[in-house]
Order: sequence, then structure tokens, then C-alpha cells
Amino acid sequence: MNTEDDRYFAAVAESYDRLQPVLSPPYEKGLEMIVDLIPFDPEETFKLVDLGCGTAEPALRVLQHFPQATGICIDSEPEMLSMARRKLAGLAGRAEVLPGDMTRCQIPGCDVVLSAKAVHHVPPDHLSALFAKVRGALRPGGCFILFDAMSLGPAWGPVARLQASRFRQRHVQRAIDSGIATREEIELRQDYKRRMKAAGRDVEYEHDAEGLIRRMEEAGFDEVSVAWRMFADTILVAFS
Ligand SMILES: C[S@@+](CC[C@H](N)C(=O)[O-])C[C@H]1O[C@@H](n2cnc3c(N)ncnc32)[C@H](O)[C@@H]1O
Repeated sequence: MNTEDDRYFAAVAESYDRLQPVLSPPYEKGLEMIVDLIPFDPEETFKLVDLGCGTAEPALRVLQHFPQATGICIDSEPEMLSMARRKLAGLAGRAEVLPGDMTRCQIPGCDVVLSAKAVHHVPPDHLSALFAKVRGALRPGGCFILFDAMSLGPAWGPVARLQASRFRQRHVQRAIDSGIATREEIELRQDYKRRMKAAGRDVEYEHDAEGLIRRMEEAGFDEVSVAWRMFADTILVAFS
């Protein structure tokens, strides 16, 4: 990790694929669910756009499972895009990696728009325009799969919060015991994130599922539902 870098994702890009599943316990299961929720059969042809693709792990999983699918992966962080390009290079031209801010760029016409763990970086007042753009890019019958941490329903009480914290600690400990990460690097990363957030260089928003669903419906999606949830990590699926 290059802690001199003033952009959070530039600094963490190199270790992202190894540490993200450790730091976010539901991440791996969420990616499996995304593949399961794609509304196509494995041999069908469709076009995917991944917004805030990062190192392209979610897009890679989808494109490996659906060998006739093609993908366009968009992210605003050059270091994450470099990792994405390297990872997708083996897909024989089925994936294109493009720099872009999802709130400003044009979204190419497609059948599936995916965004994983990225929309919490989008300010609330940009969400309606983003969802309208996603809806406009989707062909009839297409769908938007949004995976991110979000609140839903009544606020958690202390018992649920304690359970979530225990779950996370056990998960991190297993990763340390199996040699995936060290306690020191995890603490270093968490400390770095805290400092970046305090300095306003890693901005995150706490969106709530009800608000996201309402905005998607207002953007013209016919049907929006909560398809999966594990603690705060939630997958919303919206059909156009
Ligand atoms: C936590 S990472 C998630 C990466 C990937 N989707 C995954 O699930 O592993 C968040 C990503 O969103 C990107 N990002 C944040 N805001 C963005 C924006 N407005 N437009 C495009 N990408 C954005 C960051 O650069 C980063 O790569």
C-alpha cells in the first residue's frame, strides 16, 4: 500500500483483491449471488456494464460464467482500472475497460448494469440522475443489479450490532489464521481508511434501501426488489 497517495483506491489497488474479501465478510457471497441473479442462461449472449468496476472481480466472475457475454467496465480510478485490464486480458476481447465517473459518463446500451460496492461513494443528490441514466441504457427486459452496504427497515439494536461485529471478527481471524492477511496490515489499512475519511479523501454515504428503491421506481424501473441481504450488504435488482 502506498500510503503517500492521496487517493484511497489508488493506494489500496494492489492489495484490493486479497484484502477486500477479508475486510468485507459478505463480499464473496455477494459476488456469488450476483452471478446467480443474472437473468440469462449460461449460453446466452448479453452485454454487461459494470459501474465502479474496481479491479473487475465482479465482472470477471460474470464473464467467466457466461462465455457468450461481453462487458464494459467503468471506474474513475486509474490504478483500479490497471488491475482490471490485467485481470480481463485473458477473456479474448470480451471485456473493455474504460475510465469514467459513473455520475457523469454516458452508459452504453446494454442488457445488464451491475454496480458492486461503489454506489455508497455517490452523493445522494446524484442518485436519481444516475438511476435514470442506467434505466435509459438498458434494453427492454434488461436489469440493474446493485450490490452495496445499505440500511433497511428498523435500525439495528445492540444485540444485532454485537452479532454483526462478532461475525466480522471471526471472519478476519480465520483469514489471519489461514495466512491470507496479517493483523498488522489489516490494522494499517483500517487506520489508513480512517485517516482518508477524516481528511475527506474517501467519501462514503449511508444510503438506505427504501430510498434507493424509491429513486429506482421514480427513474422508471417497473419492478425493484431486495434479492439478497447479509447484515448491511444488500443486493437490489431492478427490472426495466
Ligand atoms: C469498494 S470499490 C468496489 C470495486 C468493485 N466494484 C468490487 O466490487 O470489487 C469502489 C470502486 O468504486 C469506484 N468509484 C467510486 N466512485 C466512482 C464514480 N463516481 N464513478 C466511477 N467509479 C467510482 C472506486 O474508484 C473503486 O474502484
